[in-house]
Amino acid sequence: MTAADNTMARKVALITGAASGIGAASARRLAAAGASLVLTDINYSAVTALADELSKAGTQAAALQHDVTQPVDWENAVALAADTYGGLDIVVNNAGIAGDNTDLMNLDLEQWHSVLSVNLDGVFLGLRYAGPALEKRGGGSIINISSILGKVGFPGAAPYCASKGAVTLLTKSAALEWAPLNIRVNSVHPGFVETPLVTQALEDREDGAETAELLVAAHPLGRLGQASEIANAVAFLASDESSFMTGSELVIDGGYTAQ
Ligand SMILES: NC(=O)c1ccc[n+]([C@@H]2O[C@H](COP(=O)([O-])OP(=O)(O)OC[C@H]3O[C@@H](n4cnc5c(N)ncnc54)[C@H](O)[C@@H]3O)[C@@H](O)[C@H]2O)c1
Repeated sequence: MTAADNTMARKVALITGAASGIGAASARRLAAAGASLVLTDINYSAVTALADELSKAGTQAAALQHDVTQPVDWENAVALAADTYGGLDIVVNNAGIAGDNTDLMNLDLEQWHSVLSVNLDGVFLGLRYAGPALEKRGGGSIINISSILGKVGFPGAAPYCASKGAVTLLTKSAALEWAPLNIRVNSVHPGFVETPLVTQALEDREDGAETAELLVAAHPLGRLGQASEIANAVAFLASDESSFMTGSELVIDGGYTAQ
């Protein structure tokens, strides 16, 4: 797939958490493929700046303040796609947070819920509110950003791992329910990727520098991933090139989980 392939002309895509990291890279990649975009984030100024930049470069891109934990925000996001572009074909449920680095013995319920609400409730609401819009179009593609930490555990990240593991099976359930509607639903499982989510989590740790080295060593390819490498997989799953894929787990992890 080339960087500007026009495979998604006439498609409308909604990307959550689009202001930064993997969401922003996915926005750029789908723009290159010709999609019209609804870019949403809790960080309105940053997501608006990206939409403006892409609009100036010829993409149809609208920005919206959107907290994925809020049903009313989802109603607004789906309505924006319908009102602006006539409907919705692709949803990238990308918004997510890492949570604190806290071991289970000290984790409180509030910390647990804060991660689960964004990473899991947010994806559920995305399915619940966007699913009917895709059904109206006669089908579509939903890409849920899980993680390798939805497949294997990680010390100090129990809520994150639990949320991402749940997204993996939520994805498969939706895929089975919606296969008859021609709505494909797949999950993406990145290894550690150089984005603000990871750099901030490392900065918050006393042993951040040491952990960064261990993380690089844990990826057999000897480096962390780049957001654009995940965005390429998002674009593949969004496009008809993946037309026989649903309920799949697409792992992009430099070999982390091959060991
Ligand atoms: N970076 C990695 O190593 C990595 C690895 C595997 C999976 N992921 C997943 O990829 C996704 C994107 O992560 P990233 O690394 O690009 O992070 P990031 O921090 O760079 O970007 C996340 C974006 O989500 C937004 N956001 C946070 N809470 C929100 C909410 N309640 N509603 C709407 N938007 C919200 C933030 O404002 C931010 O713009 C997340 O789901 C993350 O768990 C990341």
